[in-house]
Amino acid sequence: MNSINILLVDNDPAVRQMLSQVVVPCRHISKTAENGLEALELIKEIDFDIIIADVNIPMLSGLDLMSEVQKIKPDISFMIITGYSRDYSYERIIQSGAKDYLKKPFTLEELRNKLIRIINEHGMEQENKQLLIQKTELNTQLMAMISVAYDLASELEFDSLFPLIISKITEIMAAERTSLYILDRNKKELWTRVAEGVDKIRLPLGKGISGRVAESGEMLNIVDAWKLPYFNKEFDKKNNFRTRSVLCLPIKNHGGEGVGVLQVINKKDNTRFNEKDEVFCKGLASQVGIALENALLHDELKLSFKSSIQTLSATVDAKHPLTAGHSLRVTEYSIAIAKEIGLGKKELDNLYYAGILHDIGKIGIRDDVLLKNGPFTPEERAEMNTHPLKTKDILDNFHFPRTLRHVSKIASSHHEKVNGKGYPLGLKSGQIPMGAKIIAVADVFDALTSPRDYPKYAFGKILDCDIMPLAKVISILKKDAGSHFDMDVVNAFLGCLPTILRHHRGERFQPEYVDDMICSLTS
Ligand SMILES: [Fe+2]
Ligand SMILES: [Fe+2]
Repeated sequence: MNSINILLVDNDPAVRQMLSQVVVPCRHISKTAENGLEALELIKEIDFDIIIADVNIPMLSGLDLMSEVQKIKPDISFMIITGYSRDYSYERIIQSGAKDYLKKPFTLEELRNKLIRIINEHGMEQENKQLLIQKTELNTQLMAMISVAYDLASELEFDSLFPLIISKITEIMAAERTSLYILDRNKKELWTRVAEGVDKIRLPLGKGISGRVAESGEMLNIVDAWKLPYFNKEFDKKNNFRTRSVLCLPIKNHGGEGVGVLQVINKKDNTRFNEKDEVFCKGLASQVGIALENALLHDELKLSFKSSIQTLSATVDAKHPLTAGHSLRVTEYSIAIAKEIGLGKKELDNLYYAGILHDIGKIGIRDDVLLKNGPFTPEERAEMNTHPLKTKDILDNFHFPRTLRHVSKIASSHHEKVNGKGYPLGLKSGQIPMGAKIIAVADVFDALTSPRDYPKYAFGKILDCDIMPLAKVISILKKDAGSHFDMDVVNAFLGCLPTILRHHRGERFQPEYVDDMICSLTS
């Protein structure tokens, strides 16, 4: 048993002596006090476990002392020594919170037996309290682990998943910062994919704390990084930061191969990361490893999907030199409008692919129609107008991820008009997806601001083949807002137009047009 701190409070030196005789042989530590106030002062300074106090002591009675102590140190156990006074009945003493009482006169044997029982009870109570604290801590960590595991399993998108996980880890570990490094085996370096409070860091394999962990595959638990000869303090100095404790773990994939490093920095209470932190982080690192590998694969797939789609769309645009880059520009303008409106990420993703692919159906239009340098006959116009349906046919057979399920509908509706006079279905405003309304504006804006070999889009009149002045383009869009185009979309387009114009100033738009237009749009 650990030694117990016992305070003996009695104004009778003989009783104090008697109490000491019992306590000292048990190898417990004891102090004595002659009155209630002296006892209270000692209690404030020293952490006692048990107090044995006579009920009738000067300055503050034994029960009053117990009541005061309960307010500041409720874990202390009391035994009250009492005479025969009716004022201090056994019931009152116990009800006041004492573990036991001892009636005067008492024998050493009685005192010893009672004290041993209280010491045992006190020990068990403290142990139970400790267990409860540990259980609560464990539950908190378990819940945190489950929450992180849930996040890891439910999201594949790296950029929306890992910053969230990293901030959760910092919080759970009561740390200041966490970084997730990705291992680039080809370049033999680590780089921070997610780092709190700092810019991107690149680190050669084997260098610094993370580099060593990545190379050895072993965890490092460091008390003070600045005391390590291999720690580079310059980075801290530049960022006005002081790295102290560090818990750094390797992240491995399914096959046990290192894919990154998780680094948690500075335990907030200025101590080091303890064993519980290590166990928790190790559990987490294995889940992060699997999710990280999945997310990286997902990123790679997304990238190759995106570049295949871009290539596919470029092949259609490239059929005619004057439409080269049309789909990419329409996409760029559409995304700018959508951001101006405030659409969310999923809508932006759908819009991106719909923009890139909106004219993909032109691949099915005969070249003598598509590339015709002259006015269309009614039959040729009818054939040309089938391209949105051909876009739909192609995209409906395309396997898009579930999150991109609206691409086909958006892309194939880009020639619909809000007054219901568009094609192919003559949809009315409420039936046209917002993305299609956006592409409609971007599409016409790009068509009108592109050099043309023949006016294929004639808005009620034959347009000449020169690049149309911006002011004229804008007046056409404004005039058709509410009939062809959605009014809100045109307004949003006008809102983001200065940014678009500045971006392409001198390249697609003549500088003097741009400056005049920005002036008139912003004045
Ligand atoms: Fe089109
Ligand atoms: Fe188009």
